[in-house]
Amino acid sequence: MTDELVPEDLKKQYSKEEILEIEKEHLAPAVAHYYEDPVLFVDGEGATLKDSSGNHYIDLFAGICTTITGYNHPKYVATIKWQAERLVYTSSMYATIPYAVLVKRLAKIAPVGLTQSFIVSSGSEANEAALFMARKYTSNPYIVACSRAYHGRTTLARELSGAGWRTVPESHPPGVRFTPYGYCFRCHFGKEYPDCDFECARYLREVIRTQTNNAIAAFISEPIQGVGGIIQPPSEYFRIVHEIVKEYGGLYISDEVQTGFGRTGEKWWGIQHAGVDPDIITLAKGFGSGIPIAGFITSPEIARDFTITDAFATFGGNPLSSAAAVAVIEIIEESNYLEKAAKLGNEFKKKLKTLEEDHKLVGEVRGQGMMLGVELIRDEVTKDPASEEMVQVMELTKKRGLLVGKGGLDGNVIRIQPPLELTSEQIDKSCTILDEVFSEIEKKM
Ligand SMILES: Cc1ncc(COP(=O)(O)O)c(C=O)c1O
Repeated sequence: MTDELVPEDLKKQYSKEEILEIEKEHLAPAVAHYYEDPVLFVDGEGATLKDSSGNHYIDLFAGICTTITGYNHPKYVATIKWQAERLVYTSSMYATIPYAVLVKRLAKIAPVGLTQSFIVSSGSEANEAALFMARKYTSNPYIVACSRAYHGRTTLARELSGAGWRTVPESHPPGVRFTPYGYCFRCHFGKEYPDCDFECARYLREVIRTQTNNAIAAFISEPIQGVGGIIQPPSEYFRIVHEIVKEYGGLYISDEVQTGFGRTGEKWWGIQHAGVDPDIITLAKGFGSGIPIAGFITSPEIARDFTITDAFATFGGNPLSSAAAVAVIEIIEESNYLEKAAKLGNEFKKKLKTLEEDHKLVGEVRGQGMMLGVELIRDEVTKDPASEEMVQVMELTKKRGLLVGKGGLDGNVIRIQPPLELTSEQIDKSCTILDEVFSEIEKKM
């Protein structure tokens, strides 16, 4: 294949202004970019992105916690090219090698017993499918989700998303119930860890007993909430909740769309740190490291009643996405990302903790591995969310060549979820920039 065959319009060196103009005219206005003066990225390498003016940025957000293998990873690019030259698409009505190889690899890295996968294209779709399957398996309509969660943008997934996304009053799917998440920095019950007796976790029993038919289809939760603001409950939270879910006949769904594929360090899946065995794991984002692919993994027993009319998805398991995902799994293994995320994550967190000591703007640093959060507050006593200051952090870090994400119900949490290609030097530089930016903002507070 030669470059001459690529459409000229794609190869044209558009200016940022021209691109923003085209978007203004033809893109739904809902598609909003980060930053007052948005960036036009044209290239990248490792954990670095390059914009149309040739400026380089350390990327601590990986798109949205997605490009786990970084940019232009040679093996990833070679695999996609190789597969594109052979077979980009046929449906799962026909067998293909990449789909079969992928589900075999997934079974190997999944927790014991979860050997059956179903592949789709987005995290929302994966959660919908998993919840549908759980309802069918248990013959029960009730699903319990956690406060401040985000599970996607389809109708049911959105209904489950307490992170400020439940904004369609006219269409509330039935059977959804909520329980508090373990958010120790702002405890739902005004208690303090570890003297709290985990009231947040135990409250699930109250929810089930008073708001369901004394049984549930599923409990769905993220091991660390991403969109919600990198909130990580103590491990006991998950163990207690898991026990209650089992007591009432439900399936435990671990939404690993953000925490999966080694991001939390040492283990493939975030929930494994709590020692809990989920019944279903849902996947997306880092799964394809940028190529759209998502899905779930479960046991043969639970997958049993999931039939073709429940399962068909036009793009699910297509050869190109499947091949890319196989390359991602292999890169994670060959580059020891699991160990690296743990080691560099600890290093990063330690440095951020120093910033927490030095800056009154920083209320709490939390998270694990390469999934870290910095919650910004205006006042140590009231913990008033520093949402305006967070906007300034975004602008000032960008000016200095650093990209961070934003999360939390009040938009006051810095999300650090970089490609796992990030280096120690980039961590040092990022912390220096954050230090400078916090000082600059604090001067005006
Ligand atoms: C935890 C979690 N679940 C599900 C989703 C939905 O994934 P998608 O945007 O691919 O539909 C997201 C997206 O941010 C997510 O963070």
